[in-house]
Amino acid sequence: MQDRSPRPEDLDPIERASVDELRDLQLSRLKWSLQHAYENVPQYRKLFDERQVHPGDLRDLADLAKFPFTDKATLRANYPFGMFAVPRERIARVHASSGTTGRPTVVGYTKDDLHVWARLMARSIRASGGRPGDRVHVAYGYGLFTGGLGAHYGAEELGCTVIPVSGGMTERQVMLIKDFEPEIIMVTPSYLLAIVDEMERQGLDPRATSLQVGIFGAEPWTQDLRREIEDRLDIHAVDIYGLSEVMGPGVATECIETKDGPHVWEDHFLPEIIDPDTGEVLPDGELGELVFTSLTKQAMPVIRYRTRDLTRLLPGTARPMRRIEKITGRTDDMMIVRGVNVFPTQIEELILRTPALAPHFQCVLTRDGRLDALAVRVERRAGSNPEVVTQAGHDLAAKIKNNIGVSVRVEVIEPDGVERSMGKARRIVDLRSAS
Ligand code: DLL
Repeated sequence: MQDRSPRPEDLDPIERASVDELRDLQLSRLKWSLQHAYENVPQYRKLFDERQVHPGDLRDLADLAKFPFTDKATLRANYPFGMFAVPRERIARVHASSGTTGRPTVVGYTKDDLHVWARLMARSIRASGGRPGDRVHVAYGYGLFTGGLGAHYGAEELGCTVIPVSGGMTERQVMLIKDFEPEIIMVTPSYLLAIVDEMERQGLDPRATSLQVGIFGAEPWTQDLRREIEDRLDIHAVDIYGLSEVMGPGVATECIETKDGPHVWEDHFLPEIIDPDTGEVLPDGELGELVFTSLTKQAMPVIRYRTRDLTRLLPGTARPMRRIEKITGRTDDMMIVRGVNVFPTQIEELILRTPALAPHFQCVLTRDGRLDALAVRVERRAGSNPEVVTQAGHDLAAKIKNNIGVSVRVEVIEPDGVERSMGKARRIVDLRSAS
């Protein structure tokens, strides 16, 4: 793999600032953001008034804990444009998150917001090993989803050549990688695996393509999957995190020098970790729910937005900003099987430690009497020997029992048996109300 670490002189000044400078900047920006939200969004005024707290009550960063939380329900209740802090005419673009049911959550950006986003995405791509002049194949979906356009304008901002492919048409993805010779690919890790399978089907050696770096996010993925991808493609696999409510991709990104969890771009977003049950703020290093407050957003400031993502805050390494540990899952992805909490990422890890199995899988939940039952449906690796495969299924069930503590049924199926998603993979199939 090429050394693609950015040169220190290419970083933004704040990426080289001290932690104290960063905290000073955050405090002044946080005061502005609270005031802006209070003055311009009736919902925030109401929430703050109910709590009897005023933006002027914030003296230091820890005072943020006095302010109320917001969540997806707050945005839904103000659908579509009720959370905007500027007149609609100043909104340059909207995005929306799909959501499986009901109303989507709508987010808006002013021109300045879009520019900040492009700059933060450019910073993220550079941190991941991208450089001006690189060709960037964007296979995140374009449209209301923030992945495609977010990556697109960031890559342009950095001075790259963008190839705006969007998701889908996997054969064509492979052809474009072959012919346009991109150095960088930006895509969900699960769809990347579908693209790699297609390369192999076409007889192309995935390690021999022009690709040097993959910037993967929009869904959880494990260290084991990083090793699998780096090994199969001979590229750097780097994690990018974000959510539409807070901006889109580029809220946090891993640095290629360390690959030790995404650094939060704290000059624009202030992270907290809370106990998801009590709402109490937890000290750095403890596992809990990630909460964000935007520091510079004009169109749609978010104050203490509960992401439902579970992680911990760790000190900065390659940058002064704090890191988040690779996300293990969302509170709403947690399956409770006979009293044991199980996340799809835990299953992914164990599948990747079972050589005859491919990392294409789904967790199927059914009702067995009054108890929940979990079946793991996983593909065998193409070319694996059928006898080994039966044993691999037993091994996986045993590993799940030993490591996670639940009994599951493992069903090993043929390659291509699990539905492929062009974007975020659907890891949980919940049939409990049907059974
Ligand atoms: O997924 C934004 C994005 C696009 C991020 C492309 C990275 C790359 P939403 O559709 O609003 O936005 O979904 C946000 O996806 O709360 C997490 O649960 C999950 N997620 C995003 N990135 C990661 C990641 C985009 N790197 C939700 N690791 C978030 C784990 C992630 N989960």
